[in-house]
Amino acid sequence: MLRNDQLDQWDRENFFHPSTHLAQHARGESPNRVIKTASGVHIEDRDGNRLLDAFAGLYCVNVGYGRQEIAEAIAAQAKELAYYHSYVGHGTEASITLSKMILDRAPANMSKVYFGLGGSDANETNVKLIWYYNNILGRPEKKKIISRWRGYHGSGLVTGSLTGLELFHKKFDLPLAQVLHTEAPYYFRRDNLDQTEEQFVAHCVAELEAMIEREGADTIAAFIGEPILGTGGIVPPPAGYWPAIQAVLKKHDILLVADEVVTGFGRLGTMFGSDHYGLEADIITIAKGLTSAYAPLSGSIVSDKVWKVLEQGTDENGPIGHGWTYSAHPIGAAAGVANLKLIDELNLVENAGSTGAYLQKSMQEALGDHAHVGDIRGEGMLCAVEFVKDRDSRTFFDAADKIGPQVSATLLSQDSVIARAMPQGDILGFAPPFCLSREEVDTVVAATKRAVTTVLG
Ligand SMILES: Cc1ncc(COP(=O)(O)O)c(C=O)c1O
Repeated sequence: MLRNDQLDQWDRENFFHPSTHLAQHARGESPNRVIKTASGVHIEDRDGNRLLDAFAGLYCVNVGYGRQEIAEAIAAQAKELAYYHSYVGHGTEASITLSKMILDRAPANMSKVYFGLGGSDANETNVKLIWYYNNILGRPEKKKIISRWRGYHGSGLVTGSLTGLELFHKKFDLPLAQVLHTEAPYYFRRDNLDQTEEQFVAHCVAELEAMIEREGADTIAAFIGEPILGTGGIVPPPAGYWPAIQAVLKKHDILLVADEVVTGFGRLGTMFGSDHYGLEADIITIAKGLTSAYAPLSGSIVSDKVWKVLEQGTDENGPIGHGWTYSAHPIGAAAGVANLKLIDELNLVENAGSTGAYLQKSMQEALGDHAHVGDIRGEGMLCAVEFVKDRDSRTFFDAADKIGPQVSATLLSQDSVIARAMPQGDILGFAPPFCLSREEVDTVVAATKRAVTTVLG
């Protein structure tokens, strides 16, 4: 039964929710939930329901909820200086300190960090920087960006184009012409079931080579990829994928953008996904884990190679014509400093690695033999369970059956555990806060098994 009090009414009458079935919500046909407070890995709604959030919000509350150290740092910053801009060389103690802390943690070839607000605007910045870079280098034709099907890079105009998911393109006139999509490194969903992982990697590389050949390397500026596909299905790449792709990019002088919005600051059990997979990116996108979502903040970390050209560009053309009012917002920066300190103090990167491994293993033991579970995969604190109609023939369910959403809804209603039905395919995703304990892993896994059994037998 839906509540029908005033807040509910205001919500349905006034609030345009992102990623929501607007008509059903406005008509009151779908439930709404008003979140009131949170602590550790649990959130609590205004009716007093306590839910275990095994997706850390939108894989962002990495240090867990209710961290007083971060709340206090935000309050102190707001009292001392809530805002000043960062244009024409201005800064604050917090934003300068945070840029130093980020560069201390980033791969050695990184040089500077530009701050934005969220992952989408950071990737928007990246595309502009890449276009500027090639203009400064006198290569005005070298502008196209290659992304992957099932990549997720945001939902703006160019970033929604980079995203390789149907829902984000349909009826929005996307993708834009400057964006190309190549094969997703999704071995479980390969077309040719006879392929080994090695052969599949060779196929992905051949597809990329063919695209570059077709378009002309002199028209392609960059390749963007998440170290491990996130919203597209939580899919670690097959062994050897990244080295093989990077070799192609180097050969054709194509920049690599590592979108580490999900993987940055520890989610894979290493500080960056680039460390985990040996990526040598030219630009790294960060957001979510930078502040654990205690305040909105993102960043584009640019390498020495890119930075040198940006400097050349401003010597030739004057100040860079790019900036947001809220770039390097002091409150976000203060949250970032406190968050990164906490991650170190509590050894949370290490915990993401070890507890994450325990989560994968426990999920495998609980569901690995289920007739409708086709694949269980993950890395660090990212885990996915993919459902199939038939394991032997790897036949998928009809999207209309909504198996993924049904399992996720059952998990919530039966055991108050939040996991995310990923948007394309019947895939249940887990991305818990890094402070998840082993007992909490056991709770999540047992509840998931129960939900899967309820929906699929
Ligand atoms: C890899 C990746 N890049 C970019 C984004 C976009 O970030 P935001 O939603 O903060 O704009 C996301 C969001 O989930 C993401 O997962």
